[in-house]
Amino acid sequence: MPSHIHSVSRLHRIACIPGDGIGVDITDAAIRVLTTLSSTLGGFEFDFTTFDWSSDNYLSRGYYMPSDGLSQLRAFDAIYFGAVGSPAVPDHISLWSLILPIRKALNQYVNVRPTRMLQGVKSPLGECATEDLDWVIVRENSEGEYSGQGGVSHEDTAHAVATEVSVFTQVGIERIMRFAFETAKGRPRKKLTMVTKSNAQRHGKFPHLIPTEESVLGGFFLVAHGGLGMVLWDKVFYEVAKDYPDVEIDKMLVDAMTVRMVLHPKTLDTIVATNLHADILSDLAAALSGSIGIAPSSNLDPTRANPSMFEPIHGSAPDIAGKGIANPVGAFWSAAEMVRWVGEEKAADGLMKAIENVTARGVKTKDLGGSEDTKGVTDAVCQEIEDLF
Ligand code: NAI
Ligand code: MG
Repeated sequence: MPSHIHSVSRLHRIACIPGDGIGVDITDAAIRVLTTLSSTLGGFEFDFTTFDWSSDNYLSRGYYMPSDGLSQLRAFDAIYFGAVGSPAVPDHISLWSLILPIRKALNQYVNVRPTRMLQGVKSPLGECATEDLDWVIVRENSEGEYSGQGGVSHEDTAHAVATEVSVFTQVGIERIMRFAFETAKGRPRKKLTMVTKSNAQRHGKFPHLIPTEESVLGGFFLVAHGGLGMVLWDKVFYEVAKDYPDVEIDKMLVDAMTVRMVLHPKTLDTIVATNLHADILSDLAAALSGSIGIAPSSNLDPTRANPSMFEPIHGSAPDIAGKGIANPVGAFWSAAEMVRWVGEEKAADGLMKAIENVTARGVKTKDLGGSEDTKGVTDAVCQEIEDLF
């Protein structure tokens, strides 16, 4: 090729929302690593635009996202998200002002949460080889327990009543089941475990007010979540299963699932669960694979009509915010998933390799038993990328 003709570099426009607490530290770290990746490999570039949508700004100006925030995001190829949540703002305000509206409005109905043993990382279960714990949790990300239906009556009186209604739809369940079966089919073991609580939460019955010990909170009677649709969840799973005869299936009640994850991790591969159940199980999965600080997630719109969003599963961790000690591995792994989603397979594989070479060498933050800080791990991953390519 004549030297004056340059091949055109592929440009990926990324919206970055660092948010709050350690979300800021790990997003900075992820941008550094992604920039190193593109400049070292060549052939593609990232154009990052950072949005200052945070709790601090909410407190000073009264909103997280501006009113056209969602349409601004639609112009990007992908979104990178840090974390949202501050001790100064009630958590339901911060979540419902920023991350949940993005997931819902941009049709990110799947949340993919892989868990596996990275090299050099120890499980609290003791000896746990890579093949002993290698899961993908597929979380329903648009409805279920986080559909936002319900309300409060007789507020601030002794008779206050709050309802929090789970919504399960045929369409919503079927599309997540299909995604989960496709995921399972694409993995070597072709095995899918469906998680439910359909013994207690029955189809077609409206929720009762159950004043159990754990449901009485601050004078409110919380309705036990669900009541509608868990049997529909099961039914659709078995219907969709007929289209995937090559995928081995089984079903677990969510409480028993926690036991199986701890005692028999090797028996699991792909897992599909509702919004709430998968939220909880994926924190457990992260802890079993070493730390909440390493776990990634992808909020996907599989139709690709909207940008998808990538974020570590952890929150803003106010207890360690501002100390520079957050583990950036979950942020890097999430970044690798984003790189794969925008079509840069080789770069995604390279980034994962760099991360694992670094953990294998023992360059780790305190939560993984190491002594490095965020910057130390980030420097090491950037150096590793340069050495690899
Ligand atoms: P969290 O995940 O922020 O923290 C739980 C524990 O894990 C803390 O002890 C924290 O220090 C530790 N931890 C988390 N990430 C770490 C990392 N990268 N490196 C080392 N240690 C890490 O969960 P928590 O405390 O329940 O929530 C804190 C805030 O974050 C709340 O406001 C909550 O609503 C919000 N949150 C936001 C999420 C999001 O933006 N997607 C997800 C989860 C929580
Ligand atoms: Mg969570």
